[in-house]
Parts: sequence; C-alpha cells; structure tokens
Amino acid sequence: MTTPTSPYTLPRLDGQRVLVTGGLGFIGSNLAHRCLSLGAEVTIYDCLDPRSGGNMQNVASIKNDVHIVLNDVRNFEGISAAVLDKDIVFNCAAYTSHPNAMKEPFVDVDVNCKGVLNVLEALRRFSADAKLVHIGTSTQIGAMKYSPIDENHPEMPVDIYSANKSASEKYVLVYAHAYRLRNTVVRLANVYGPRSNIRSSDFGFMNFFIGLGLKGKDITIFGEGKQLRTISFIDDCVDALILSAETPAMDRDVYFAVSDQQYSVKEVGEAIAQHVGGKVRFIEWPKNREVIEVGDAVISNAKIRGAVGWEHKTSLESGLLKTKEYFEPRMKHYMDLAL
Ligand SMILES: NC(=O)c1ccc[n+]([C@@H]2O[C@H](COP(=O)([O-])OP(=O)(O)OC[C@H]3O[C@@H](n4cnc5c(N)ncnc54)[C@H](O)[C@@H]3O)[C@@H](O)[C@H]2O)c1
Repeated sequence: MTTPTSPYTLPRLDGQRVLVTGGLGFIGSNLAHRCLSLGAEVTIYDCLDPRSGGNMQNVASIKNDVHIVLNDVRNFEGISAAVLDKDIVFNCAAYTSHPNAMKEPFVDVDVNCKGVLNVLEALRRFSADAKLVHIGTSTQIGAMKYSPIDENHPEMPVDIYSANKSASEKYVLVYAHAYRLRNTVVRLANVYGPRSNIRSSDFGFMNFFIGLGLKGKDITIFGEGKQLRTISFIDDCVDALILSAETPAMDRDVYFAVSDQQYSVKEVGEAIAQHVGGKVRFIEWPKNREVIEVGDAVISNAKIRGAVGWEHKTSLESGLLKTKEYFEPRMKHYMDLAL
C-alpha cells in the first residue's frame, strides 16, 4: 500500500449519473449537495421514513436540480428502475436508530438487510458496471478488544441495528467478490454537522446534544460521560465517500473514514455548550441505553489514508460553528416536525 504524501483533491464528477439512496437524510443529502456541485447528475431515492433523519428541508435549495424518487429500498422493482444507467450508487438508506431497532427488530432487518440485498440484486441484474459505495458503522464492532480499532478488528455488535449493519456489509462484500461488482464499504462513526437529525435522542448523541445547545437547553450526559468517541464532521465524511467512489483500487474492500481525534462524551458536551449553547448536566443512565453502550471506541483511519490520502480536516470548534450557522436560521424545519 502506498501512502500519498500530498493532501487529496476531490475529483470532478461532470456527466456522472449518481444515485443516492437515503438522499433526504443527513449523510445522503450532504452527498447529494456535494455531488451536484462537482458536476454530477443526481437522483435521490428515499421513502422519507418519519422514524429517520429524512427531511425535505435537507434538499430545499437543490430540489429543482436533482431528481427525487419517493420510494422504498424494500421495493425491488423501484430500486431496480433507479439503479438503471447509474455510474455511482451511494447507499445511505437505512433504519438508523439503535433504540428503535431494539423495539422494532423486524423493521430493522427488512430495511437494513433485505433492503441492502435489493440494492445488490438490482445492481447485479441491471447495472453491474456501476460503482456502489455502501456505508457501514463503527458500532458493528461492539466493545473494543484492542486500540485503535482497525478494519481487522472482530465484530461483536451489541444492538440489532449494528448486528444488521454488520450482516449487510458482508452481503455487499459477498456480491463484490462473487459477481465482481465494484462495491466499497466505508464505515463511519458519530458523524455530526448540518442537515443531521437534531431533534431526537434516538440517533447519534452528538447531533441531539447540538439540538439541545441550539435551544439553550441542558445537554444531558448519561453517567460521567467518560467514554471516548471518535467523532467526524460531515464534510470530511462526504469527501471520503466520493474519493471511495472514484478510486478503483478501493473496490471490494472495507475502510474506516473517521477523524483522528477522540473526545469523551463529556468533552463533546462541553464543547457544544461553549460553541453552540446550552449547559452540561449529568443524569443517570437509562436502562435501555446502558445495555447497548460499548464503552471507549478509538478507531484508526490509516487504511483509507494510505489508499487515497484522505484525512479529517475539520476541527471540533470549526465543525460546531459551521453546524450552528446552518441550523440557527432553519430551526423550525428541524424541530417542529409533525411526526
Ligand atoms: N449518522 C451517523 O453518525 C452514522 C454513523 C455510521 C454510519 N451511518 C450510516 O450512514 C447511513 C445514513 O445515515 P444517516 O445518518 O444519514 O441517517 P438518516 O436517518 O438521516 O437518513 C436515512 C435516510 O434513509 C431513508 N430511508 C429509511 N428507510 C428507507 C427505506 N426503507 N427506503 C428508502 N429510504 C429509506 C430515510 O427516509 C432517511 O432519509 C446509514 O447507512 C447509517 O447506518 C451513519
């Protein structure tokens, strides 16, 4: 593996036909914005599941420039039609809440396993030359057995969402190897930033804390908040996903695209209080959260850095300020949803 010495530059995507499943959600919509700005022709495929971070506001400024298909990855005919003639497919559609997946395990397996199989079968049958970038999650790992976690670390997920994400990642790799599809898995961890779901604690802790900070409320940390987390800013993650799409040497493999910086949950809460708003308050662990808590998670990005020179560029302070700047004038679109 060679280690590029210069920082990466993002390729242009002029003329490329890009499909973003889950493109109304946090990561998918940021990808759609960036792909469009790089010259791609963008189609979003999303069912706007009210239990997810999907939000039409995420695409308000680009809705006339992208093609939006309101449909479900559980619908094989729908996703098959959507992958036709695409050059790149970013698979961001998912049932994304750890606690909801524990309550509704059958929905989770339908979306996060069968839905992914639908995308894979559709590609194999109708668009086998397309590049697929599938998003995995660091929580597939479970408790850390050695530090830092790398792509060879064993996976022992502690909740249904993470178990199904682990299984579906393997489907992506099985199809890649068995049918020579151009699939890459990029695993992310605790992504924060503009267009995230800031209204519910059922998703990432950090975006919920940002929502509390924006409203000037107490940022409620379970226990002492000492557990370490690798947190990443959305723009850097989007860069990693686009680089993965455009780098054939990354086909049929798995990469962690995460920041180098680890913070305790308490430090994250304090940084949000300082740069966004609100005040840190410590509360007791709720039982349903304690059982799916994995402790410290420290992750290496050496593999993707070696492959494409990707690095996480955004400091915590700058990421929080950009997030605040995005949300402040748009709070009503993110907080007052009639669910
Ligand atoms: N946000 C993070 O910190 C993080 C970390 C690791 C991995 N990931 C992964 O990134 C991907 C995107 O997550 P996100 O944070 O943007 O979540 P999100 O909830 O904001 O977006 C998910 C999108 O998928 C759509 N969707 C849900 N079920 C669907 C279905 N059946 N058919 C079509 N669309 C459907 C939703 O409507 C929503 O727009 C997921 O695969 C998630 O597992 C996210």
